[in-house]
Amino acid sequence: MSQSVSTIGVGYVGVSTSVGFAAKGCKVLAYDKDLAKTNLLIEGLSPFYERELEEHLQRVRRDGFFEIASNVEEAVKNTDITFVTVGTPSRADGTINLDYIKASTTDIGKALVKKEGYHLVVVKSTVIPGTTVNMVKPLLEKTSNRQCGEDFGLCMNPEFLREGSGLYDTIHPDRIVIGEYDRKSGDTLESLYNHFHREEKPPIVRTNLSTAELIKYANNAFLATKISYINSIANICEKIPETDIKTVAKAIGLDKRINPKFLRAGLGYGGSCFPKDLKALIAFSKQNNYHPSLLKAVQKVNQQQIDHVIDRIETQLGELTNKKICLLGLSFKPDTDDMREARSIPIINQLLAKGARIAVYDPIAISNAKVIFGNEVEYASSVPECLENSECCILVTEWSEFKELEPEDFIKKMKTPLLVDGRRIFDPEIFGQKLKYVAIGLGPPKIG
Ligand code: UDX
Repeated sequence: MSQSVSTIGVGYVGVSTSVGFAAKGCKVLAYDKDLAKTNLLIEGLSPFYERELEEHLQRVRRDGFFEIASNVEEAVKNTDITFVTVGTPSRADGTINLDYIKASTTDIGKALVKKEGYHLVVVKSTVIPGTTVNMVKPLLEKTSNRQCGEDFGLCMNPEFLREGSGLYDTIHPDRIVIGEYDRKSGDTLESLYNHFHREEKPPIVRTNLSTAELIKYANNAFLATKISYINSIANICEKIPETDIKTVAKAIGLDKRINPKFLRAGLGYGGSCFPKDLKALIAFSKQNNYHPSLLKAVQKVNQQQIDHVIDRIETQLGELTNKKICLLGLSFKPDTDDMREARSIPIINQLLAKGARIAVYDPIAISNAKVIFGNEVEYASSVPECLENSECCILVTEWSEFKELEPEDFIKKMKTPLLVDGRRIFDPEIFGQKLKYVAIGLGPPKIG
C-alpha cells in the first residue's frame, strides 16, 4: 500500500485499526502516551484479550509493517494519514469527556507545523455531533498555524467493531462511513480504503463530519433498542403459559425488515460502548432541548432487567441473607475479559446489599473482577467449585464452556439446585425436568 498511517491511542480501536492496516501491507506507526501499553505492543503482546489478535500482531511486527512511535511528532511526520483513536469516556453527567481528543489534536497540530506537504487527520474516536468541525478543526488550525482544506485534510470515520472480534470487524466491515471536511479529504481516505479492501469492497457512505458522528451514535442506540425491545417482550412471555421468547425472536427475526441479530433476550447489554453512547446521546439531545423518550426507555428497560431477575430469585428463595448464590460468567460478554458495565456488577451489588454470600467464576475475567469486588465475593477457579453448596446459580455470561454443562453438574454440587438462565443457553425441556429452572423470557408451564 502506498499510503502510510499513524494511530494515536492504542485501545481496542487503535490496535484493531493499526494491525488491520498493517496486515494489508500498509506501514503503520502507532503512538500512545501509556508506555505500559506500547511496551507490550513492541513485544508483540496485546494490551487486551482478543483471540488470535497476537498472532497477527506478531506477524506484522516481524514483517516490519507495524512500529511504535515515541511521540506524536514522529508519528505524524513519517506518515500520510493520522487516525485519532483515543478514548472518549463518560463524565458523571453522561456527557463525554473530550480531554484526550483535545490533547491529541493539539499534539497533531504542533507536529503539522514541521510537516512538509498534505496530511490527512481522521477522527475515529466516538465523538458527539459537531466535535470535529467545531473543536478539532479550529484546534488543529490554531496549533499548526495552517488551514484545513488547504494544508491538511480532515475526516470523521466512525468504527463499528465489536470487542473480541475487533480485527475481524476492521477487515470485514458491513460498510465504511466517511465524514469529510471537503472532497479532497474524503477522496484521500476513500483511496486508502480502496487499497485496503481490494478484493471485496464494502459500501462506502460519504457525508459531512457531523452526520458521520451521529451515524455512530444512531447505530449503537438502535442495537441497544433492539435488545431492550426483545427483553420487554421476554418479560411479557414470562406471564403467558407455554411461550418462549426464543421462538418469538426466531420468528420475528425472519422478517427481513427486522433481521435476527441483536434479538437475544437476557440480562441486557453492557460493555464500553452501548451504555456510554446512549448516555452521551441522551445528554447531547437534552443540551439541545430535545427529550429523547425512546432512548431513555431503552436505558430504563436495561436497568430494570436486573431488578427483575433479583425479584425472580427472591420469589424462589425468600430472604437472601446468608444464602450462597453463585454467578457463572462476569465479563460483559463472552470472549473478553472486559468488565466495563458488565451486568454481573449490578447483580452482585444488589445481592450483596440483600445479605447474600456470593461466589463467582469466569474463565478469564477474574483478575479484572478482583479490582471491582475485592474480597466481598469468593472467587472460584472452576465451575464445580463455584457451585459447591450454593442455593442459586445465575448464568450471567454465555461462555461456550458453560453450554456443555448438564443438569447433573448443578444437582451434584448445589445445596438446592435453582438455576437462573440469564442468557438462555440451556434447553428448558431437559433442565426444566431435572431442577428448578428459571429462564428469561420463558413462560410458565401449562396449568392443569
Ligand atoms: C458494540 C457494537 O456491536 C459495535 O458495533 C460498537 O462499535 C461497540 O459496541 P461490543 O460492545 O463489543 O460492540 O459488544 P456487542 O457484541 O455488540 O454486545 C453488547 C452487549 O449487548 C453485550 O453485553 C451483549 O451481551 C448484549 N447483547 C447483544 C444482548 O444482550 N443481546 C443481543 O442480542 C446482542
